[in-house]
Amino acid sequence: MSVPMTTNEIRAKYLEYFKKNGHIIVPSSSLVPENDATTLFTGSGMQPMVPYLLGQPHPLGKVITDSQKCFRAQDIEEVGDNRHTTFFEMLGNWSFGDYFKEGQITMMWKFLIEELKLDPSRLYFTCFKGNDELGISRDNFSAEHWQKLYKEKGIEVSIGENPEVDGIVGNQHIFYYGEKKNWWSRTGVPANMPEGEPGGPDSEMFFDFDPENKNKIHENSKYKENLCHPNCDCGRYVEIGNNVFMQYKKVGNKFEELPQQNVDFGGGLERISSAVNDDEDIFNLDVFDEAKKILIEKSRKGYGADEKITFAMRVILDHLRAVTFLIGDGIVPGNKDQMYFVRRLVRRAVRFARDLGINESFTKDVAQTFIDTYKNEYKNLEEKREVILSELEKEESKFRTTLEKGIKQFEKITKTVVVTPNTQTLKISIPKPTVITGIEAFDLLQSYGFPLEVTEELAKERGVTVDIEEFERLKEEHSQNSRTASVGKFKGGLGGDGEMETKYHTATHLLHQALRTVLGDTVVQKGSNITPERLRFDFAYDEKMTDVQKKKVEDLINEQIKKSLPVIREDISIDEAKARGAMGLFTDKYGEKVSVYRIGEGKNRGDANLFSIEMCGGPHVENIGTLGTFKIIKEEAVSQGVRRIKAVLE
Ligand code: SER
Repeated sequence: MSVPMTTNEIRAKYLEYFKKNGHIIVPSSSLVPENDATTLFTGSGMQPMVPYLLGQPHPLGKVITDSQKCFRAQDIEEVGDNRHTTFFEMLGNWSFGDYFKEGQITMMWKFLIEELKLDPSRLYFTCFKGNDELGISRDNFSAEHWQKLYKEKGIEVSIGENPEVDGIVGNQHIFYYGEKKNWWSRTGVPANMPEGEPGGPDSEMFFDFDPENKNKIHENSKYKENLCHPNCDCGRYVEIGNNVFMQYKKVGNKFEELPQQNVDFGGGLERISSAVNDDEDIFNLDVFDEAKKILIEKSRKGYGADEKITFAMRVILDHLRAVTFLIGDGIVPGNKDQMYFVRRLVRRAVRFARDLGINESFTKDVAQTFIDTYKNEYKNLEEKREVILSELEKEESKFRTTLEKGIKQFEKITKTVVVTPNTQTLKISIPKPTVITGIEAFDLLQSYGFPLEVTEELAKERGVTVDIEEFERLKEEHSQNSRTASVGKFKGGLGGDGEMETKYHTATHLLHQALRTVLGDTVVQKGSNITPERLRFDFAYDEKMTDVQKKKVEDLINEQIKKSLPVIREDISIDEAKARGAMGLFTDKYGEKVSVYRIGEGKNRGDANLFSIEMCGGPHVENIGTLGTFKIIKEEAVSQGVRRIKAVLE
């Protein structure tokens, strides 16, 4: 039986264990990815490790271990149940061409059983079933190795071939699944991987939180029609880690072996801690204890008192822990990019606190507890304590001054409208249509600081929907107008810095596509940096570009500029974006909509009148005819396999 341990103790135990096994402990990277413009946040442990998985030598050697801070913005709306958080730590151990399946599985088993003292009868393991079309065979080795390790403990377990149909039968503890479950790459299943992307089969580890099925979790879940199995997602079996055997690279429709066989292990620290402490509610972990006390004290309500209270407390705990770390990594609340997420999280926490009856300053006190809990592992939190607290205080009080008024305004919008005809004293009640218009939602944002999802949530609680399309259009129009306004301020009609940056942003899309056209589709964006004076673009490519190639890229771009192609933004589902051939890394596994910018009228990649289609947050010019002449001023290597271009618009 496992004994209770704090989350900090488990992290330390993991890192020490791998150190004992020859690994070097490396610190967590920042939550803001370095040299990777494709995602706003670091969302998995492997993200900072991609170059090393592809073969670049890691400066600290072939075997390393870490605990990586992660933030998944796409999970904001999942928070509220007992296991989703936006911020989490991912424990990782890495072999860059050193040990492989046998070494990893044995080390991991010993860690779970001997160090954490988890009960083997509550553990389940899954392995890749294989795919003939891809030419990748079933991972018998891993399955049989887990089985052997059970046997060494005197436990006979068998392997399930078809858990999705048969459920768990007899003494099965190991199961085969297809690529939807047991294949890992940043972009998901093999079919969705772009050229050159690394990936491989994986072996996942699950913990059974309800072995006697006392809580009847499955029966109460939306999956109750099916038989329960480790991957059925009902909440009884929770994934606590994933051993990825990262050994392939996508080439055409097939896979080639990478130069080395890698291991990428990632395990959610909080979930492992929940398993060790045998409590499936992540928000019952020790790291939330002090923060929870504050919420209970200030609201005079108990955690778990009822569903609504529990939900609100979980949202607040999650969001304030996330912003403590995000501000610690230098992202303050604001209106753009990463900063807007911080703003949304704080405002959402404040609005849920109102539901708990907390109407006084509280975010600062809660953040203090997180700084205290994590400061030994994450020293920057202590160094940034004052900044974190003062940014929270500012953002909270700014929002609080308009929150009450905004809620009143919201009630007015959604309440029954009473019409009093002039000629009579009779009052007629007309129920308000069930939609909040885009104008109303935009006004709630502009005048009361309500991020769209706050409006959406309030609307949902009242069974009303929001016209998001109109809202987005107005927001876009507004930001175009404010850009024009700022341009107008410059004497002689010269564009301001913001406008130049926007132009370079659009030019970056042109460059990305032009490089792919000239050098081939293996070119993938690795980074981008824009100033009002120039653009800088890093991309995966092995050789120095020739003068002819550079000239071709310039000519191609300038030809498009001469055609004055329009730039069109659309918000579409990830599936549609992929189907239409948009560029960009689809790391957002769970998100719903993405913005896609097209340059040219055509809709899909390959259409004659479409030059580029790319996932992006903007902003962009409306028509590329205004860009001027594109010129490459430098082309150089940044690291092995990565080139850098600096270019200007003249
Ligand atoms: N790459 C895997 C994941 O993020 C394991 O680290 O889940």
